[in-house]
Amino acid sequence: MRKVQGMEVLGLLFLVMIPVFVRTGKAETNTFLINCGTNSSVNVDDRRWVGDLAPDSNLTVSSGIVATNSTFNGDSIYAPLYRTARFFTNSLNYTFKVARESYFLRLHFYPLSFQDYDVNQSSFSVVANGLKLVSNFKVPSEISHSSSYLQSSGTNSSSFVLIKEYFFDVDTDVFVIEFIPAKGSFGFVSAIEIVPVVDNVFVDSVNKVGGGANIYLNLSKRGIETMYRLNVGGSEIKSSDDELWRTWGVDSGYMLTADAGSETTNSSTITFTSANETSVAPLLVYETARTMSNAQVLEKRFNMSWKFEVDPDFDYLIRLHFCELDVDKANQRIFRIYINNQTAADRFDVFSKAGGKNTPYHQDYFDVLSPKINTLWIQLGPDTAGGASVTDAFLNGLEIFKLSRNGNLARIEIHNPEGNKMSMSQILLAGIGAGIASIAIFVALFMLIFCFCKRRRNKPGDTKNNSPGWWPLFLHGAVVNSTANCKGSSGSQNPVGSVASARVGRWFTLAEIKAATDNFDDSLVVGVGGFGKVYKGEIEDGTLVAIKRANPQSEQGLAEFETEIEMLSRLRHRHLVSMIGFCEEQNEMILVYEYMSNGTLRSHLFGSDLPPLSWKQRLEVCIGAARGLHYLHTGSDQGIIHRDVKTTNILLDENFVAKVADFGLSKNGPALEHTHVSTAVKGSFGYLDPEYFRRQQLTEKSDVYSFGVVLLEVVCARAVINPSLPKDQINLAEWAMRWQRQRSLETIIDPHLKRKYSSESLKKFGEIAEKCLADEGKSRPTMGEVLWHLEYVLQIHQAWLCANDGENFSNSQVMVTIEEKEAEEVQEAATVNDTTALAPKQKDDEESAGNC
Ligand SMILES: *[C@@H]1O[C@H](CO)[C@@H](O)[C@H](O)[C@H]1NC(C)=O
Ligand SMILES: *[C@@H]1O[C@H](CO)[C@@H](O)[C@H](O)[C@H]1NC(C)=O
Ligand SMILES: *[C@@H]1O[C@H](CO)[C@@H](O)[C@H](O)[C@H]1NC(C)=O
Ligand SMILES: *[C@@H]1O[C@H](CO)[C@@H](O)[C@H](O)[C@H]1NC(C)=O
Ligand SMILES: *[C@@H]1O[C@H](CO)[C@@H](O)[C@H](O)[C@H]1NC(C)=O
Ligand SMILES: *[C@@H]1O[C@H](CO)[C@@H](O)[C@H](O)[C@H]1NC(C)=O
Ligand SMILES: *[C@@H]1O[C@H](CO)[C@@H](O)[C@H](O)[C@H]1NC(C)=O
Ligand SMILES: *[C@@H]1O[C@H](CO)[C@@H](O)[C@H](O)[C@H]1NC(C)=O
Ligand SMILES: *[C@@H]1O[C@H](CO)[C@@H](O)[C@H](O)[C@H]1NC(C)=O
Ligand SMILES: *[C@@H]1O[C@H](CO)[C@@H](O)[C@H](O)[C@H]1NC(C)=O
Ligand SMILES: *[C@@H]1O[C@H](CO)[C@@H](O)[C@H](O)[C@H]1NC(C)=O
Repeated sequence: MRKVQGMEVLGLLFLVMIPVFVRTGKAETNTFLINCGTNSSVNVDDRRWVGDLAPDSNLTVSSGIVATNSTFNGDSIYAPLYRTARFFTNSLNYTFKVARESYFLRLHFYPLSFQDYDVNQSSFSVVANGLKLVSNFKVPSEISHSSSYLQSSGTNSSSFVLIKEYFFDVDTDVFVIEFIPAKGSFGFVSAIEIVPVVDNVFVDSVNKVGGGANIYLNLSKRGIETMYRLNVGGSEIKSSDDELWRTWGVDSGYMLTADAGSETTNSSTITFTSANETSVAPLLVYETARTMSNAQVLEKRFNMSWKFEVDPDFDYLIRLHFCELDVDKANQRIFRIYINNQTAADRFDVFSKAGGKNTPYHQDYFDVLSPKINTLWIQLGPDTAGGASVTDAFLNGLEIFKLSRNGNLARIEIHNPEGNKMSMSQILLAGIGAGIASIAIFVALFMLIFCFCKRRRNKPGDTKNNSPGWWPLFLHGAVVNSTANCKGSSGSQNPVGSVASARVGRWFTLAEIKAATDNFDDSLVVGVGGFGKVYKGEIEDGTLVAIKRANPQSEQGLAEFETEIEMLSRLRHRHLVSMIGFCEEQNEMILVYEYMSNGTLRSHLFGSDLPPLSWKQRLEVCIGAARGLHYLHTGSDQGIIHRDVKTTNILLDENFVAKVADFGLSKNGPALEHTHVSTAVKGSFGYLDPEYFRRQQLTEKSDVYSFGVVLLEVVCARAVINPSLPKDQINLAEWAMRWQRQRSLETIIDPHLKRKYSSESLKKFGEIAEKCLADEGKSRPTMGEVLWHLEYVLQIHQAWLCANDGENFSNSQVMVTIEEKEAEEVQEAATVNDTTALAPKQKDDEESAGNC
């Protein structure tokens, strides 16, 4: 069985490992075979089924009605079990004392006629150790529904039995199966079978369809339901012929064109490579196969195809069983496998994979089904590019397993007959919401503690450390340290005091500022940091502004303040938050910026009630921010490094146009840096370029690194550092990069984006983020390259949106007008700035708006 080590977080930052699984006792003693609703035991299948009323049954049943009707005469071998059942109109628990093991759980439902209970009216849910197995379950309609797993082998329609099979790890000492009738209804169960599984029937690392690389499924934490299990090309295998009492059905009923493949058999010499392999499938499965017919047809233009009905919006594990019965060399028979029209494998060579002829082999694939898709197609076809002499595909066995999501395996009801109950997806959403809320609370707490520590360290008197480092929305005068040493910089050419000549912004009087902020009314505070407070204000012409007032106790002096004003005056760009003016009066140091009504990018990703941004909006925001940074890096001769790129420094205006804020830590570029002996590492935890950290050398590529982290935050919508998560997930960059390297970033995508993005665009997006996060600065792209690639990603996504029912035609119109406006503003900025030689040079590459 699979063993897992559970990770839990105790306290704030202390990680403790708790091994969850402890194997005890011998597996065989844990088998439970229960005949429900009787005190007598019967022998079926050479196994003894104990009545749930028998005194030594070793289980507890909490309630229920014992139902008996001996008229059942179906030809199922299990018939004796179905003459009794337990009916229930209230919740009913079956509690078993078990060892911590993996188990197959099988529930048998036979709709027994009993008194005046109309089984067609029954409806109930089943929950096993917290995992929801079925919900609003109606056995008779499930039976008539062709998708149901394992209809009884009975030939009379009146004798159909539904057997549902699940597999999961039990990590407690009791196994509680809860049967819950729907309000005013009732339910029933005929028999319960619990079979321990000792061997590794499932592994966690599985190929993703279409993705190539393996992905980690974490199966021990998920429940598994068997949807289909077929002995391809052969006859039914009865449970008594399977070590784990599985039944293998016949595949022909699921084939699209039954004569696409013919049945082949050769039982002479098949051998397992190790004895425990019978736990995966019995030898009988490998003795028969379905092989593509028409082998001699020159034009091999067909597939063997099977089609299965499944529940939409779940993850599936598809297991294919093979055994090469014919060719006896590698590379002789090569074919392709498709799952839902995507290539799962090409150049598939069973002989090589299995390590020989007559050797059983199985291969697992993982696929995610969208809410719109309720079929699973499995197709095998020739791979003519492989150059093999035989391209006839074959298959011996097939299993389809559904994997639980968020503790649920029950089909998600789209139409809810009760009306007032929440649908499953609502419940899931609510769960996600609660999750986000608790993360938000945690982040807030963490920030608070962090702030507290920072504040203590920065208290007046401690003159060594005067950089608050990472306050959102605040400017810090770090520039001054460098400009003082730098001969070439305009900052040092203008000694403090005469800087005013380079200023572009408006000079406000303190009275005007007081009027705009209701005399610094605390209710108008939109941000607080070590440097002071930021107020929302309205100046006399009605313009909304953000007013940053330096705290009189702040250690950042006049010099830093002047430098900031000067720097901000030089920087004008549509994607940089611009300064409107400043006020220097009565020892006050106040900066006035344009007001960004939609706040920080971060607040739109997580930790707030704001509606989630669409993938398109997110891409546009990233592109805007990339433009702003690209301008910083290239807009002036030496370039400017932001040094504190993060989602709280990317602000959104009323049209969700992104603007980069807080260049307080900014530094002029590398030319300057070389003249420097050392630079204290500044920036924000979680976004810091490791190379900068190691070598204390700052380049534009440090911003590129931080921007890469921003990209991941945009996809995953979680904090870059979240200490409440398991250790390997705390750091977003590390965690997300592990998934990205497996090409499965979509596994951890923000649930709000699920299915609302083109996966091609996500793939490219992930690649950009990965490049930005390259360990060495020189391997990272420039912001210009990042920008170019992001625009390409947006184009891909736009095309996808158009292809998918042309959704946002009106949106693309809006986009065009925004782009036009941008061009105007850039011009405007250029004229304003003509003295500073900082005219923006990038641009005009943006006709990407894309009509459908
Ligand atoms: C089993 O139940 C039947 C009828 O319900 C009863 O007659 C019989 O005594 C019971 N047997 C035992 C062993 O409890
Ligand atoms: C109940 O458990 C006891 C002790 O483990 C065992 O001897 C007995 O056979 C079990 N009864 C059944 C019906 O499995
Ligand atoms: C099938 O049902 C008919 C009556 O509908 C019955 O006579 C016959 O015995 C049943 N066959 C089996 C195998 O149960
Ligand atoms: C069944 O078990 C669950 C979980 O252990 C418990 O919450 C519930 O109250 C039980 N129901 C009954 C009817 O005993
Ligand atoms: C047993 O089932 C038959 C139909 O199969 C039904 O007519 C009869 O009423 C049932 N007997 C009881 C006691 O419910
Ligand atoms: C229950 O429904 C099935 C078909 O859905 C029907 O054949 C059967 O007669 C119904 N049984 C009763 C008792 O209404
Ligand atoms: C069979 O045993 C081998 C060696 O102990 C092990 O590596 C393998 O995973 C086992 N296979 C199964 C299906 O349990
Ligand atoms: C596996 O699932 C558990 C519970 O859902 C989770 O705590 C754990 O982090 C997961 N492990 C991985 C590697 O995803
Ligand atoms: C079965 O396989 C054996 C050994 O590979 C071979 O000799 C024999 O001809 C095969 N039989 C059939 C019916 O293909
Ligand atoms: C086989 O199926 C795949 C996936 O649906 C499809 O792309 C391919 O064209 C098919 N091949 C033939 C020869 O029909
Ligand atoms: C696969 O392709 C077939 C037609 O070739 C189509 O009917 C089916 O819906 C497709 N399946 C999926 C999951 O896209």
